[in-house]
Amino acid sequence: MERMKIAISGLGRMGGQIARKLYDDGHTVIAHNRSAEKVDEAKAYGATPAYSEKEVIDAFGGDQVVVWLMLPAGIIDAKLDEWLDLLPEGSIVIDGGNSDYRGDKARSERVSARGSQLLDIGTSGGVWGLENGFAMMVGGDKLAYQTITPVLDTLAKPRGGHQYFGESGTGHFVKMVHNAIEYGMMQSLAEGYRVLREGPYPDLDLAAAGDVWQQSSVVTSWLNDLTRQALHENPDMNDISGVVAESGEARWTLETANELNIPMPAIQAAFDVRLASQNGDVDFSTKLLAAMRSKFGGHNVDGKQ
Ligand SMILES: NC(=O)c1ccc[n+]([C@@H]2O[C@H](COP(=O)([O-])OP(=O)(O)OC[C@H]3O[C@@H](n4cnc5c(N)ncnc54)[C@H](OP(=O)(O)O)[C@@H]3O)[C@@H](O)[C@H]2O)c1
Repeated sequence: MERMKIAISGLGRMGGQIARKLYDDGHTVIAHNRSAEKVDEAKAYGATPAYSEKEVIDAFGGDQVVVWLMLPAGIIDAKLDEWLDLLPEGSIVIDGGNSDYRGDKARSERVSARGSQLLDIGTSGGVWGLENGFAMMVGGDKLAYQTITPVLDTLAKPRGGHQYFGESGTGHFVKMVHNAIEYGMMQSLAEGYRVLREGPYPDLDLAAAGDVWQQSSVVTSWLNDLTRQALHENPDMNDISGVVAESGEARWTLETANELNIPMPAIQAAFDVRLASQNGDVDFSTKLLAAMRSKFGGHNVDGKQ
């Protein structure tokens, strides 16, 4: 199988796993991060360290530069502009974070104007992607997608784990709606388990309910599996504040749906619950939401990202 040279910039929970998975599968990985410790960690397992953007470019030694940015959505424009000042023509830049799809067209035009290409790749799989593979939703230049297919074949689940959707923005758009659906599914589970807990049978074993629901029932799912695990570990959700963060995608989906006159009552309700939790409206169900987020995304249970 073809192997590539690729830089990962942003070695956090997601980027760190992406770099490691690529390295383990034989790709040449150039590891870059704002704080040096994570670059040192990548160097320790064999990745090529780069402590600055310039070192990243130099490490390609004249080969086509492919840089995967795995950064918070709020800084993507500023970071992209910094990279554009350095990237040689013909580079491929990947924005793998949860950026707002509505900014992708302009970002892609800025990159094309410098003779390079931008791919937007929505990435799902959370902190389990290293082990299980990621789901990757791709938008942007099709040739660039084809060029980096060996990388996606390593990262994604075998057979269908990455998919090209079309013009710039489509990858982030599909990922955004995925995350909005996630809010609604999580909310349903959290509400259901709360009713089990506070219903007419005080000693009901919630984790056991989750176990049996996981056995080919209609609500069998990864989210239920993670909820079930969280309940086994911490049945009363002790030391979890119940404040639940929202990272933008449900909000943007609701804005888009509103413009399209498409009601989204389930996802709106799930979103509103998170906002209310940030104003102190917490209960067992919001604690479960925080526990689920921690399980799949490694997020803090204190309501921060
Ligand atoms: N966690 C998930 O389940 C998940 C799933 C899919 C997609 N995503 C998306 O993936 C992206 C990364 O998420 P994550 O969970 O990996 O985040 P994370 O663990 O918080 O890591 C954030 C990374 O961004 C870097 N960073 C933050 N602010 C920066 C700045 N001002 N300048 C330069 N670098 C900066 C951090 O560097 P330092 O090490 O120096 O702080 C770190 O490498 C986000 O867009 C997120 O929405 C996350």
